[in-house]
Amino acid sequence: MAETQVPDEPAVDPRRGNFRLKHVGEQNIERQAFILDEMAARPAVRTLKAWVLAQVDPAAGETAVDVGSGTGEDVVAFAELVGPNGRAVGVEPSPGLRAEAVRRSNGVRAEYVDGHAEELPFDDESVDVLRSERVLQHVDNPTVVVREMARVLRPGGRIALIDTDWGTAIIHPADPDVRQRMIDYFLGGSANPFSGRQLRGLLADAGLEITGETAATWIEPQEGARQGFVSMMHLTSAEAGVITPAEADAFAQGLAAAADRGAFHLSLTMYSVSARKPV
Ligand SMILES: C[S@@+](CC[C@H](N)C(=O)[O-])C[C@H]1O[C@@H](n2cnc3c(N)ncnc32)[C@H](O)[C@@H]1O
Repeated sequence: MAETQVPDEPAVDPRRGNFRLKHVGEQNIERQAFILDEMAARPAVRTLKAWVLAQVDPAAGETAVDVGSGTGEDVVAFAELVGPNGRAVGVEPSPGLRAEAVRRSNGVRAEYVDGHAEELPFDDESVDVLRSERVLQHVDNPTVVVREMARVLRPGGRIALIDTDWGTAIIHPADPDVRQRMIDYFLGGSANPFSGRQLRGLLADAGLEITGETAATWIEPQEGARQGFVSMMHLTSAEAGVITPAEADAFAQGLAAAADRGAFHLSLTMYSVSARKPV
């Protein structure tokens, strides 16, 4: 099987032998779309996407915005609910992903606009519903971003955020010292690796009323011991000199042996929090 177990971040293509930390946005569009599709298929992500949609509950005629909309799946879901008198808008800085989203929208009345979460292209209090998924982990200042989201939300408007928290990553079995050096290396390569646990505080600090929170964990199948994230993790760490080649081999062999007896474990928890702007 190809690298179907690659998580959203960090992402690399083991087939190309180009093992280095890469933001999804640095990949070619075909590769970015592949990674986003793989993530979107995970049960934990399906659960959180559905929870968010129910929490923000867009109504006919409303303006609903997805910040960091990727391939546009969630904008299409908004478009179906806001109908012909509403607006469903994806804000996405990547021209390639915007083009892919337009291609996939296939006649659905969805808009994809260029923009960044730090400076949203909307007037004050002009948006009824806003969602953003796995974007805050990439931004340098999530406080600024969530305040910007609160600025554009109308009084009574609904918002929901989803993000991963890399502090919840569990990989077993592994030498604790080797595992910690690899994890520290990867956490250092992410702008905001603990955003999952910060969602609630970010929304509250922006003056929004929390209306709900939930979490979902993705658990890697046993095949994941020999591919995708696991391969990327030890190969990039060894290349960076964080672990030795011998430690990388021992790590890989230990996980493969565990998988052979059904004892491999890799999991990561994602969080979602919803809120409302006070009237
Ligand atoms: C992990 S992807 C998630 C995409 C989409 N939300 C989904 O659920 O599939 C992160 C997305 O955030 C976008 N992004 C990165 N930095 C951003 C920023 N500062 N403002 C808005 N979007 C950003 C990326 O281009 C990418 O589409």
